[in-house]
Amino acid sequence: MSICVNSWFDIFKGEMQRYETILILDFGSQYTQLIARKIRECRVYCEIVPFDISIGEIIKRKPKGLIFSGGPAGVYEEKAPHCDKEIFRLGLPILGICYGMQLMTHLLGGKVEKSQHREYGRTTLIVDKKRPLFLNLKSKKLLVWMSHGDKVVKLPPKFVHLAHTSNSPFAAMMDEEGKFFGVQFHPEVAHTQRGKEIIKNFLFNVCNCSGNWTMESFIQSSIKKIRQRVRNRRVICGLSGGVDSSVTALLVHRAIGNKLSCIFVDNGLLRVNEKEEVIKTFCENFHLNLHLVDAQERFLKRLKGVIDPEEKRKIIGEEFIKVFTEEASRIGKTDFLAQGTLYPDVIESVSYKGPSAKIKSHHNVGGLPEVMPLSLIEPLRELFKDEVRLLARKLGLPEEIIWRQPFPGPGLAVRILGEATKERLNILRQADFIVLEEIRKAKFYHRLWQFFAVLLPVKTVGIMGDERTYENVIALRAVTSEDGMTADWAKLPHKILGNISNRIINEVKGVNRVVFDISSKPPSTIEWE
Ligand code: XMP
Repeated sequence: MSICVNSWFDIFKGEMQRYETILILDFGSQYTQLIARKIRECRVYCEIVPFDISIGEIIKRKPKGLIFSGGPAGVYEEKAPHCDKEIFRLGLPILGICYGMQLMTHLLGGKVEKSQHREYGRTTLIVDKKRPLFLNLKSKKLLVWMSHGDKVVKLPPKFVHLAHTSNSPFAAMMDEEGKFFGVQFHPEVAHTQRGKEIIKNFLFNVCNCSGNWTMESFIQSSIKKIRQRVRNRRVICGLSGGVDSSVTALLVHRAIGNKLSCIFVDNGLLRVNEKEEVIKTFCENFHLNLHLVDAQERFLKRLKGVIDPEEKRKIIGEEFIKVFTEEASRIGKTDFLAQGTLYPDVIESVSYKGPSAKIKSHHNVGGLPEVMPLSLIEPLRELFKDEVRLLARKLGLPEEIIWRQPFPGPGLAVRILGEATKERLNILRQADFIVLEEIRKAKFYHRLWQFFAVLLPVKTVGIMGDERTYENVIALRAVTSEDGMTADWAKLPHKILGNISNRIINEVKGVNRVVFDISSKPPSTIEWE
């Protein structure tokens, strides 16, 4: 595998050195991102890099320490991912986690074997030596999360063991110099007690980090980078009103002011007040140069008679690109396109795809960079979503934008099953707004990952006053989730459900029935499409 450290590294080269950096070599664990998040929470900057990163590349980045992630392979397997053995001569502290510990053992002359018993799930760890990894932990016993089949049966020369479990005599180890560490368990997962303390001990007591990664320092260095790169040229940015594109636009605006032009496309598939909020926030409060394109009729015309959800997505994506490029050409000569790409998407492209790799579908309207020969500016490429929210707050964005729920690029069209007509969009929009109002009133907004209304393609019989009705059904969707990859249907109190149902049926003309979706993901998805 080549080291696809991407053009963004070149862009930010030099700047990177402002922060103390930890490099995480990715051996394919499903938890690699969690390691990165935990480290960032400790205010230490870190990056995930491929396991076969060259020694030269590591030196160039001047890290304070390295972490070897876990991974699904066994070190003795023919195709097991191995790093360059020279890595141990760099003089850098290294922490190996699970597979990372086994690899360290294997490369440094110890022995790893298949275990009789797979250790999976919570296990009690007995700490035998506290310094420096288990410093400050009051108890000698910790519940830790294990997930391994192989285990270390002989330590490498000049290593000592730090902890054991009933199944693993060497559940944690370090070399005599106190540079190389291995833990068989996963300190990065929430199930491991005091896991963050253990990571902190490595960062601050072993690597001597000071914790200089803050949003304030990020803003300052981003602004500088953007200015240096753009100089007198122009940048365009597609603004959707979501937190990622909003933060991107504000950051670029802070750096280059009116040389940034933002384009907001009203495709007619937006929710109540969305356009108005964007205008208020970005034009009135922040004075951004905003081009508002009213393309409602164009989108609706192309969606006429279209029922298939994939077809809808395709049409909306194509039309968006057309509208956007037309508007961009009106703006005049532009050199850059600013996008709100986040770190998890970057990791997707650099991480080692072991057998446990997640398959993630990319939903957003892509294709712009291909049709527009512009260089990309992606100031959020290093950030996780929660960091983007912190940044949003620092930049003064309103709470509604900071906490805006994920909203599909194709908008309400995917929440109308069947044809998306103007009339049906109006029905859905009103119902959706009632859901929002009632959830806010009940103070449930922050407890849910997403909630929304869906308009079904069936009509049912009802009775209003003395008259029989034959009208639409609205389905209510409300889920809790960590990341949208899996989700539970939310156990909303009956009172809230009752209020929502009453209000929709009374206030939205054309609806005589409301149902509540009680399916989780998987096997269902969050959106109905
Ligand atoms: P599903 O329906 O696949 O959705 O369970 C998972 C999450 O992705 C959101 N979603 C999108 N987000 N552009 C986005 O930015 C899209 O086209 C898109 N489609 C679905 C969905 O709302 C949920 O949070």
